[in-house]
Amino acid sequence: MLTLRRLAVQALSNLPLQGQTTLAVDTEARSILRSWMLAARRGTTAPVPQATATAPTTQVPQTVEEKLAWLRQKAQNWRAARALGSLRETMVFATGNPHARLMFVGEAPGYEEELQQEPFVGPAGQKLTQIITAMGMSRAEVYISNICKFRPSMGPQQHTANRAPSDEEIAACLPIIQAEIRAIQPACIVCLGGTAARGLLGHAASVASQRGKWFDCGGIPTRVTYHPSYLLRNDTITARRSVWEDMLAVMQHLGMNISPRQRNYFK
Ligand code: URA
Repeated sequence: MLTLRRLAVQALSNLPLQGQTTLAVDTEARSILRSWMLAARRGTTAPVPQATATAPTTQVPQTVEEKLAWLRQKAQNWRAARALGSLRETMVFATGNPHARLMFVGEAPGYEEELQQEPFVGPAGQKLTQIITAMGMSRAEVYISNICKFRPSMGPQQHTANRAPSDEEIAACLPIIQAEIRAIQPACIVCLGGTAARGLLGHAASVASQRGKWFDCGGIPTRVTYHPSYLLRNDTITARRSVWEDMLAVMQHLGMNISPRQRNYFK
C-alpha cells in the first residue's frame, strides 16, 4: 500500500513537468487522497517520501521564475539521466532571461561549462556571445540552454575532452528542455547544431539541409543553424555568413531593427 502511495505521489508531483497544473479527481479518488492526507497529519502512517515532502513540488509553480527554479531542482536528480550511467554528475541548467523572446538551444555542457555550471562559457560560448552581440543583444537578454543537462562521460581519462550526447542521452533529458520551452514561451527558438535539431524537432538531416527554413517546435517558430563550434573549426566568410543569414531571419521575425551595416556583415 505504501509503495502504491509513493508511486502515486511521485506521478502526481511530476505532472507540472509535463505542463499539467490542474487535475480532475472523482469522488472516490478525492476520498482516498483525503484519507492519506489525514493519516499523514495524524502521523499514523509514514508520510510521503522525504524528497517529495520537502521539495517545492507540493506547491504548483506559478510564475516563469518559479517554474524554472522547480525544473532546475528536478533536473538535479533527474533519474532518467542518472539511470544511463553515461552522463557525468554535475548538472548544468541554463542561463539568461526567463522572459526572453529568443531562446538558443545547444547540445550539452563541455569541460568549461561543467566547471562553471553555466552553458556556453567555453570557446564555443565565446563565439555564441559574439553572435548575440552582433545581433544587438546581450547574453542576459536571451535564454541559453542545452538539450542535455549533463556533460557526456568519456571515462576516467576524459580531462578536457567532450563528446556529443547519444540519442539515448538526448531522450533522457528531453522532457527538461521541453518543459523550459513551455515555461518561457519564447517568440523564437534557435537550434544550435544538429544535435539540438534532432532532439527538439526529431530531424536527422544535416544542418545544411535544415537551414533557411522555419520549423515548429510545440507551436514556437524554430530555426536551425550551425553550432558555434562549427564556426571555430570552419572559420570562413561563407560559414559566418550562413549563420549570420539565419540570425538576420531571426531578427526580422522578432521585429528587431536591422541596420544596413548589420545586413552586410560577412558579405
Ligand atoms: N556546446 C554546447 O552545445 N553547449 C554548451 O553549453 C557548450 C558547448
